[in-house]
Order: sequence, then structure tokens, then C-alpha cells
Amino acid sequence: MPQSQPWQTVAHLDDLAPGGSFLVLFAGRDVALFREGDEIYAIDDRCPHAGASLCGGTVEDGVVTCPWHYWSFRLRDGAWTGNPRVKTGTYAVRVVGGDIQLAAPAVPPSPREDCPCGTQV
Ligand code: FES
Repeated sequence: MPQSQPWQTVAHLDDLAPGGSFLVLFAGRDVALFREGDEIYAIDDRCPHAGASLCGGTVEDGVVTCPWHYWSFRLRDGAWTGNPRVKTGTYAVRVVGGDIQLAAPAVPPSPREDCPCGTQV
């Protein structure tokens, strides 16, 4: 169980255009923010397959597709659509006065050995 962590401001709504993404550093990790509709999501930026930046992926219907080999991850829980047991980390998000704040990971990332393709990172 992850330790609870205080909310931390990482960006402002003005940094994240509708439909866009924005890379921030949070708790020592690169975290990709996505804004789709009225929702803001935060997931680990590093793709669990081979390490591409998910911040550079394309987003449609709550799913980000990695720019390197096109694995897709649900933004709400980080699950890979090809096998939901494989996940990238997600973070709780709230907006206060236009500030985007994150808290501890809501879903920890999968261990690397869970990757079904056997890619070593
Ligand atoms: S690095 Fe993301 S799908 Fe391969």
C-alpha cells in the first residue's frame, strides 16, 4: 500500500490545452498529464514496453497510444488495453484554483517481469 502523500501543485490549467499533454516531475518520476474533455489524468510517462515517452502519444476516448510501438493504455487506471494486468502508474489528480495537483500513485506500475513480450528494459 503506497504511503499517503500531500497534494503537490505540478502545473496550471493554462499549461495543459484541451486534448493536450504536459510532462511534469512528481515524486522523482516523469509524469505525463493529459486533458481530455473536463478530465485531467496523470500517468507515469515511461511506457512499460520499452520506455518511450507516453506524453508524446496520441489520445482518443480515454486511451493513450505509445508513439513507438502503439501499445495503448487507459488513462484512468494505466492498464494496457492488450492485457489489463500490465499497467503503468497513475496518480490522483485535483484542480484547485486552476492549479493541477497530484498525490501518491493510485495504481502502482506493474513489475517489469509481467511484460508478456519479454522485453528487457
Ligand atoms: S515503447 Fe511503448 S509500445 Fe513500445
